Amino acid sequence: MDIRERINKLRDEINKHNYQYYVLDAPLIPDVEYDHLLRDLQALESKHPELITADSPTQRVGAEPLAAFGTIRHELPMLSLGNAFSEDDIIAFHRRVTERLNATEVPYVAEPKLDGLAVSLRYENGILVSGATRGDGNSGEDITRNVRTIPSIPLRLLGTGTPSVLEVRGEVYMSRSGFAALNQRQRKQGEKTFVNPRNAAAGSLRQLDPKVTAQRPLAIFCYGVGVVQDYLMPQRHSEMLMRLKNWGLRVSEEYRVVNNISECIKYYNEIEAKRDILDYDIDGVVYKVDLFQQQDALGFVSRAPRWAIAYKFPAQEALTTLQAIDIQVGRTGALTPVARLKPVFVGGATITNATLHNEDEIQRKDIRVGDTVVIRRAGDVIPEVVSALRERRPADAVPFEMVTACPDCGSDVIRNKGESVVRCTGGLYCPAQRKEAIKHFASRKALDIEGLGDKLVDQLVEHQLVSNVADLYSLNRDQLMELERMGEKSADNLVKAINDSKSTTLARFLYALGIREVGEATALSLARNFGQLSTLMEASEEALLSVPDVGPVVAANIRAFFRQDHNREVIERLENEGVHWQDLTEFSQQNLPLKGKTFVITGKLDAMTRDEAKACLQALGAKVSGSVSSKTDGLVAGHDPGSKYTRATSLGVEIIDEKNLLTILNKE
Ligand code: IVH
Repeated sequence: MDIRERINKLRDEINKHNYQYYVLDAPLIPDVEYDHLLRDLQALESKHPELITADSPTQRVGAEPLAAFGTIRHELPMLSLGNAFSEDDIIAFHRRVTERLNATEVPYVAEPKLDGLAVSLRYENGILVSGATRGDGNSGEDITRNVRTIPSIPLRLLGTGTPSVLEVRGEVYMSRSGFAALNQRQRKQGEKTFVNPRNAAAGSLRQLDPKVTAQRPLAIFCYGVGVVQDYLMPQRHSEMLMRLKNWGLRVSEEYRVVNNISECIKYYNEIEAKRDILDYDIDGVVYKVDLFQQQDALGFVSRAPRWAIAYKFPAQEALTTLQAIDIQVGRTGALTPVARLKPVFVGGATITNATLHNEDEIQRKDIRVGDTVVIRRAGDVIPEVVSALRERRPADAVPFEMVTACPDCGSDVIRNKGESVVRCTGGLYCPAQRKEAIKHFASRKALDIEGLGDKLVDQLVEHQLVSNVADLYSLNRDQLMELERMGEKSADNLVKAINDSKSTTLARFLYALGIREVGEATALSLARNFGQLSTLMEASEEALLSVPDVGPVVAANIRAFFRQDHNREVIERLENEGVHWQDLTEFSQQNLPLKGKTFVITGKLDAMTRDEAKACLQALGAKVSGSVSSKTDGLVAGHDPGSKYTRATSLGVEIIDEKNLLTILNKE
C-alpha cells in the first residue's frame, strides 16, 4: 500500500470513530486506541507534508488568530421562528396551517429548541468549506476556523452520494457539564466566568483565536438544511434529518413525528419534564411541517416560515429591580440576605423574593439595592439573583452592608473565621430559632425531657404556650390538655418529666443551651474546668482557650452567647424555676483531680473511643500524650495494645485497664 493510501485509510478509520463517538454516542474503541490512530496519522503526515489536506482529522486546530472576522453571505437566508407561549397559540398555528393547505391532517416533526447559536455549515463535495453565524439572516461572520475545532462537526461527510453543495443549519451549544468545568477552570486561572452555557458558547465561538475555541467544550445539533445542489431531496424533513445523521452530522435524538395537536402538546410536556436531566439547555420545542411539499406551499412571512413555530417554555430568567435586601433568620440562626424585587413573571410564576445566598456572594457579584438584576428560576429550585446590570446602575444604588444585630431578636450576630454564614447569637431567645432551641434543650443528651418530642414542641410554640426553654417549667396539665392528642395521663407524665429534668449536671445544662459548636464533649470539658456556670459566663477568651477541646472559634461562640442579655435572662429564669446541678467547684480550675498527670492511651476500649477517653481525662486536668516515656504517669490499655504497652512495662509505668479508667473518670 502506498503512503497516500495508508493515509486515506487512517483518515477514514478516524472519521468513522469520530462518528461513532460524537454522533452515535457509541464508541467502538477505547480513547487510547483512538489517540494511537491519530498519532500514526500525524507521523505519516509530518513525513509527507505535501499530502496534508484541510479535511484531515489532524487539521482541526492550528489556524493563526484573526484580526477580525470576514463576512459570509448565506445563499438562502437563515430564518427565525414565530413564537407560541400557550396551547391556544399552538392550536391557532395548526388552524392556520390546515386552512392554508386545505388539509385535515398535517404531520409535524417536533424537536427540542436548543439554546445556543445558529450556524450554517457549507460542505462542497463532502468537504467542510465554511462556517458562518446567523448574523442578520442574510450574512453572518465567517467562523470557519472556529467551527473546524468542534469535534462533533465533521470535516468531511461520510459515505458517497452526498450533494455537491450542502448547507447544514444547526445550533452550536455548550453542555451544562462542560460549562461547569469551564467556569471552574476559569475561576482557578483568575479569568472571567460565564453567566450561562449560552453566553459561554457565544463567547467561545466568536473567538478570533481558534486555539481558544478548541479548548472550549462546544458541540452541535443539526436541525435543517439551506442550499442543497445535485441531490434528490427526500420528501420529508424527518427523512432529511436521518440522512444528515448518516452523513456523520449530529442530530438530536429527541425529535419525533407527531400527527395532531394532542401529540404536539404531549411532546411539549414530556420534553419539559426532561429538561432538567438533559445535559444541554433548551428553551422550548419547535414544530415543523414534515412534508417539504407542504412547507413550500405554506412559504414565509417576513423572515419566519409559516410552516414552523417555536413553543417556548416559560422564561427562566428575567430582569427586574432590586428594591431592598432583607435579612431572613433561619431556624438554626443563620442569616440569609433575601432580595425584595419588583414583581416579575419568570419560570411560570410571579416572583417577588429571591435568595442572594450570603454576604460574600453579594460582594462578589457586586449587587446593590436599586440595581436592575437578572433573576433565575429553574424548575423547583429557589429563585436566585444571578447578576446585576452595571450599565443600568442608578447613581444612588446602595452597596450592601450586613447587619450587626439579628433583625428578629436584636442579639449580636457572629461570623466565624472561614465561614460565609453570619449567625444570630440569641439562640435561647430568638423567635426564629425557638422551635429548634427547645427541641435541642429537651433532647436525650441535653435535659432529657421524656415525651417532649419534636411535634409537641411545634404545637407548644404554635399555641404560644412556650416561647423559650424557661417557659417549659411553668406549663401545667390544663394548658397541655388543650393540645392535640394529649390526654390527662400524658399531660401529667409530661409535667412530671419536665419537673424531673430540673435536676441535672452542669455539662448537660451547658450542652442544652445550644451554643454553636459546643457539643457534649466540649460541654463536659467546660463544666469540669470552670465548675460553676457563673465563672464560665464571665470567662475571658484566654481562660476559655486554656480548656482542652476549645479553640478560637468555639471560644468566640461561647463569649458571644453569654454576652447577650436575652440569653442571660433565660438562664436566670431557668435557675429561678429550680433547674440545678451539683456544684463542681472543688474540681474546677486549680483543683482538677488529675492536674499535672500525664497519660498515654493504647489499644481498643469498649465503652468509649480513644478520643472520648482523651477528652474525659483532659477534662479532669490530665495531659494526654502520644508516646510513653519515664515521665508518663499511667498507660490506659485497652484490647490488643501495641508497642506502647511493652515500653510502659519496661519503664515501670502504671498500667490502667478500662475498668480502672472508668473508676477514675467516675470520681466526679
Ligand atoms: S429551525 C426556518 N430548529 O431558534 C427554521 N431552530 O428562533 C429556522 N433553534 O435561529 C430554525 N433549535 O438558532 C430550528 N430545532 C430547531 C432549533 C432552532 C434552536 C434556534 C435557531 C434559530 C432560532 C429561531
